[in-house]
Amino acid sequence: IILAGWAIYNLYLSTVYPTITTIKSRGKLIVGTSLDFPPFEFVDESNAVVGLDIDIANEIAKELGVKLEIRDISFDALIIALKNNEIDLVLAGLSITAERQQVVDFSKPYFNASQAVISLAGKNIGSLQGKKIGVQTGTTGEWWVQDNLIANGTIPEANVIGYDRWPVALLALQKGDVDVLLLDEPVGRMFVKKVAGLQFNFAISTGEQYGAAVSKQSRDLLDLVNKVIANLQTSGKYETMVEKWFGS
Ligand code: ARG
Repeated sequence: IILAGWAIYNLYLSTVYPTITTIKSRGKLIVGTSLDFPPFEFVDESNAVVGLDIDIANEIAKELGVKLEIRDISFDALIIALKNNEIDLVLAGLSITAERQQVVDFSKPYFNASQAVISLAGKNIGSLQGKKIGVQTGTTGEWWVQDNLIANGTIPEANVIGYDRWPVALLALQKGDVDVLLLDEPVGRMFVKKVAGLQFNFAISTGEQYGAAVSKQSRDLLDLVNKVIANLQTSGKYETMVEKWFGS
């Protein structure tokens, strides 16, 4: 009877908490990200995978009582990987958008961002008219260029080059393949700070908010993620993390 009770209890758990049950029996949380986005996720000088999103991922794994595995996936493929159940969670400076909400569920927002334009130092970039613009494929930056510059003919489609990874886009900027890069403002500022010979030109207010994303079948995990984020925020721990990655 005790064994039967145990079996029924476990069946109950796996019905009410399907994703959490899977993660716990696997013993690890698998988080997908694109490791090219400092200070949210990147590989540091000592080859460690670090960043604000990685800190949040660690807190979620701790709450679940499991190990954390970070999977580096090109940004454009993250949501597909989530849909295919290859990963449990996306934490990738991922902006909450209506299009993405059709496909995945988002946590409460944890960071506000806009877009920004960076270039090589010494350039005079007053506007984007006629410029060659580098973006990351599948990002809100790419969509912004499409909706606000290509759609109205400010620049031809051919002037926009999509890159899979930011380091490749930075090289293209240095080689002169593009005049500017358009990307999330906090990351643009970080590149200007870290990489010599770059300059911050201007921000474009897009009012984006980052959220963690889970598959639509993972309501249980989403509740847990929201709880972890809320606890980090109310305890002041989140603010400490942000200060650690952005400086004060
Ligand atoms: N916030 C933008 C978006 O959601 C860009 C995110 C890029 N993230 C990354 N890890 N490369 O589309």
